[in-house]
Amino acid sequence: MTVRLDGRVAIVTGAGAGLGREHALLLARLGAKVVVNDLGGGVDGTGNGNAAADKVVEEIKEAGGEAAANYDSVASAEGAERIVKTAQERFGGLHVLVNNAGILRDKSFAKMSMEDFNAVLQVHLLGTTYCTKAAWPVMLEQEYGRIVVTTSIAGTSGNFGQANYGTAKMGMLGLMNCLAIEGRRKNVLINAVSPGANTRMTVGLVAESIVEHMGPQQVSPAVAYLSSELCQDSGHIITAGAGGFGRIHFFETEGVQFNPSKQISADMFAEKYGQISDLKTATPTTPGPAGRLEDRLKLLRSS
Ligand code: NAI
Repeated sequence: MTVRLDGRVAIVTGAGAGLGREHALLLARLGAKVVVNDLGGGVDGTGNGNAAADKVVEEIKEAGGEAAANYDSVASAEGAERIVKTAQERFGGLHVLVNNAGILRDKSFAKMSMEDFNAVLQVHLLGTTYCTKAAWPVMLEQEYGRIVVTTSIAGTSGNFGQANYGTAKMGMLGLMNCLAIEGRRKNVLINAVSPGANTRMTVGLVAESIVEHMGPQQVSPAVAYLSSELCQDSGHIITAGAGGFGRIHFFETEGVQFNPSKQISADMFAEKYGQISDLKTATPTTPGPAGRLEDRLKLLRSS
């Protein structure tokens, strides 16, 4: 299997450093024309500058690829629109959007200010939403698009001191799940990567024993595949780090089915709680507003 991106135009947000830089370099090596977006600020989202994005654009060009810089913040709808416009004006279209830009404002929830909570949501959750919203009509219209969002184990499993970040990282999976349904008919597919890498964001957090294997370039192959035509899935969450790859999915247990024409008491629920929460019976969740309710009721009717 050969992953190629020839003729494709890709945006990578937050591509001036860390994971985004590696994603941009790899997408360009695989043939894509890349918009290298980066605000150029600190890990906490303060400050800005052009140097980070410019340097990656230079690296891509030196390697024989095509790239253009954009310095807008993903955290505003207007900024996101300008990022998409950069792709259209510089390279005549847009096929791939990698939502990667991010910041951290870690503190225990008890000590976290709402300002720090909102700032993290603004960049990760709304930034991803703004960029996706700006790219969406272009991709629907041309009936082709590949979108990647960058989630985290801090959202899917939780982490101390990252309530803001974990909330944002889970929120974008809700966006992804809905857009996977809405975009499918038009061949606009959206998937998530959940990375683990040694970058300025995780400096000092990765165990010494594994840090040498945690280069961000070990995550980018998953992003490149999800950005390519070869990828035909949508709504997948792929873990990537230190050469290991896997998939996260939501599961629902078989649970119990009471007779819904009679009032169910709290005691009835309490008695069955062990069975309701027993993961041994879990199978992948069903999309749609009612989930698995209809199947459960069918079983009840047939019993
Ligand atoms: P990083 O700090 O090296 O890179 C993030 C980049 O995003 C920076 O270059 C920064 O300037 C840029 N950025 C920040 N705010 C921006 C904004 N408003 N608009 C445009 N650009 C902005 O961090 P790293 O580790 O490369 O993180 C990349 C993504 O991966 C983030 O979304 C992060 O949450 C996620 N992630 C990283 C993990 C890791 O192990 N490094 C683990 C899980 C998720």
